[in-house]
Amino acid sequence: MKHSELIEILADGNFHSGEEIGAALGVSRAAVWKQLQKLEAMDIPFNSVKGKGYRLPEAVTLLSKEALAAHGFPHAVFDQVDVSLSLDSTNNAMMQMAENNTDGRKICFAEMQTAGRGRRGRTWVSPFAQNLYFSMLWPFSQGIAAIQGLSLAVGLAIHRALSELGVERAGLKWPNDILADHQGVKSKLGGILIELTGDVTDACQVVIGVGLNLDVRIQDQAKIDQQAVGAKQLGVTADRNEITAVVVKHLVDVLETFSVSGFAPLKGEWSEADAFKGLSAKLVLPSSEIHGTCMGVNEKGELILDTETGIQLFNAGEVSLRLGDA
Ligand code: BTN
Repeated sequence: MKHSELIEILADGNFHSGEEIGAALGVSRAAVWKQLQKLEAMDIPFNSVKGKGYRLPEAVTLLSKEALAAHGFPHAVFDQVDVSLSLDSTNNAMMQMAENNTDGRKICFAEMQTAGRGRRGRTWVSPFAQNLYFSMLWPFSQGIAAIQGLSLAVGLAIHRALSELGVERAGLKWPNDILADHQGVKSKLGGILIELTGDVTDACQVVIGVGLNLDVRIQDQAKIDQQAVGAKQLGVTADRNEITAVVVKHLVDVLETFSVSGFAPLKGEWSEADAFKGLSAKLVLPSSEIHGTCMGVNEKGELILDTETGIQLFNAGEVSLRLGDA
């Protein structure tokens, strides 16, 4: 018995006794107990009530390869598709895989992350089976130069997916945030963390990590350092497998264009979704801050900022763009 089989039984949110679970899986109660302990060790939340049995605190829809396929997930594009219950970080898992990988395309999903990472050293809050956390390994043959603008392209793919799922209010924030207006506030709907391994001047491997909020609860918001919103709060009713399949399908489409032609053909569409265009903003660089008006992006995906000293261009790096002068 695998712990994933146990979770599938508990996923309905109802109580199941040890006996019932053992019978369903053809194992002893002791074996069920052992797997429950593993869930506990993985920090997967479940309730245990004497006389009633075990349950997840609420019903969840788990990701599964079969359900993804049923929603048109592009399995054929990948050499490997992994779905894990819990990982420290899907980016970490993919970076490790990249060490032994030369040209394959791979993707891994986790139902939760115990050390999910955001940009600029931030934590990415990753509760169990609530949101979407995945990383994709995509080889690029021409080194780091070929991936300029990649994070914008990935953002655009997610924006397309959200439109297909019915979210009209999503916008993109340079270089790689997905935002949505929620209760009058620009709130974070998703983020992208791109990491590189290999030879930056030649063939390199790119790990594209995506976190998309599907259901942000009050208790999660308390742990997040900025206003966040989930697709559910924006009216999306599709289940997690469908959302995942739609997102990955658009991501593959965009990456195929990007691998051949770079960001240039995507620039117009990105600009239409630009949530900061024409707004006054502050760019936080590692050791300074620059104020200006956001004038969109150029064909390389650089930010065009109209500053006191004239137009300046910025590359996506360890920078952060904030609204207003504050
Ligand atoms: C950001 O906006 O700061 C980027 C967030 C990226 C989060 C995703 S979740 C899947 C992948 N694994 C990680 O540890 N981080 C990325």
